Amino acid sequence: MIATQAVRTFKPRRRPLTPERAALMDRLAPELCLPETGDALDAIAVFGRAAPLVFDIGIGLGDTLTVMAEAEHGVDVIGCDVHTPGIASTLARIERQGLVNVRLVHGDALVFAERLPERSLAGIRLYFPDPWPKARHRHRRMVSEANVDRLVRLLAPGGFLHVATDITDYALQTDRVCGTHPDLGGGVIERPDWRPVTRYERKGLAAGRQVTDLVYRRREVEPNV
Ligand SMILES: C[S@@+](CC[C@H](N)C(=O)[O-])C[C@H]1O[C@@H](n2cnc3c(N)ncnc32)[C@H](O)[C@@H]1O
Repeated sequence: MIATQAVRTFKPRRRPLTPERAALMDRLAPELCLPETGDALDAIAVFGRAAPLVFDIGIGLGDTLTVMAEAEHGVDVIGCDVHTPGIASTLARIERQGLVNVRLVHGDALVFAERLPERSLAGIRLYFPDPWPKARHRHRRMVSEANVDRLVRLLAPGGFLHVATDITDYALQTDRVCGTHPDLGGGVIERPDWRPVTRYERKGLAAGRQVTDLVYRRREVEPNV
């Protein structure tokens, strides 16, 4: 178990759902959404099989998550976001695409992370995390020393942490935090062509910003060595 988050990495946004989306949430969430808090997650019981498990943090409207889940039938994915319309949109996509390898968490990824057993994840995706550009807000970034330390413990040896950002300063912070973490190895990579362009990425590119992909892997070390 890991400690509860003290600092929020998101700005709470209250946008009501349309009646259609609210009905869709009521119908699909009981089957497809996992509670944010509770017992340790038994992924085999949830997905009905043993498969590599990926945690996708901050899925937005779920466009990238569902495209990737459809392309990777052999991988199970838990997508998480605090934004209610985004969860509803992703549920609609899951149903439309008939995906059986995706579950969602409507809540804070760092709170849900407490339900994930250590070394249980094949990977963590963090695509275009909230940038928090002002210096006085930088402690809210998902890629902080404390958060990365907590997330790395959830990775199986060899498991990946893939961060993509269009904020140069965020890429530098990721390189500094992850690049100096004793259990991680990796760094900046060329943009992988298998990663779909996300909605936020498109906005960044339109504004002339440069996108950086960084991939780190948990080192294959024995515990307590
Ligand atoms: C800039 S958006 C990017 C969305 C999507 N990945 C994309 O590229 O289009 C960041 C998302 O992260 C979510 N988020 C931020 N902190 C979070 C947290 N602690 N747990 C879950 N979601 C979070 C926000 O609600 C927002 O939807």
